[in-house]
Amino acid sequence: MKYALYIAWNDSNNLGIPIIDEQHRGIVATINSLHYFIQEGKGLDALKPTLNILEEYTHIHFKTEEAFMKISSYPGFEDHVTLHEGLMKKTLEITREAVSYKEPELTLKFLKEWWIGHINKEDKKYAPYIKKELGIQ
Ligand SMILES: [Fe+2]
Repeated sequence: MKYALYIAWNDSNNLGIPIIDEQHRGIVATINSLHYFIQEGKGLDALKPTLNILEEYTHIHFKTEEAFMKISSYPGFEDHVTLHEGLMKKTLEITREAVSYKEPELTLKFLKEWWIGHINKEDKKYAPYIKKELGIQ
């Protein structure tokens, strides 16, 4: 269907930590906007502004997640931060390819796979721990 969302948020992606879930939805919304512009044939023009927004917002988001991990003394903190640190480098690498091949879909696909995979695999490792430590219902 034309104009369908690239990533439809599913409640199974929620961690149950409201601000983190909200930020994840914000990131997904930005990825969906890139998809919209790609469909409109304006993907290459949209890449730079989209990535600028994502970079700044992702920075805020990672700081939030890392603060939650820190105050609850989550034992996987260091490993998780390493995963966060790899994202921007990988995004820039893929985007360089996307620009040289004129295929903004490469960045789009990478972002979807990284974020949905990260949320559902890596973030779900810390969520129960943090919720228990901080008494989040
Ligand atoms: Fe994370």
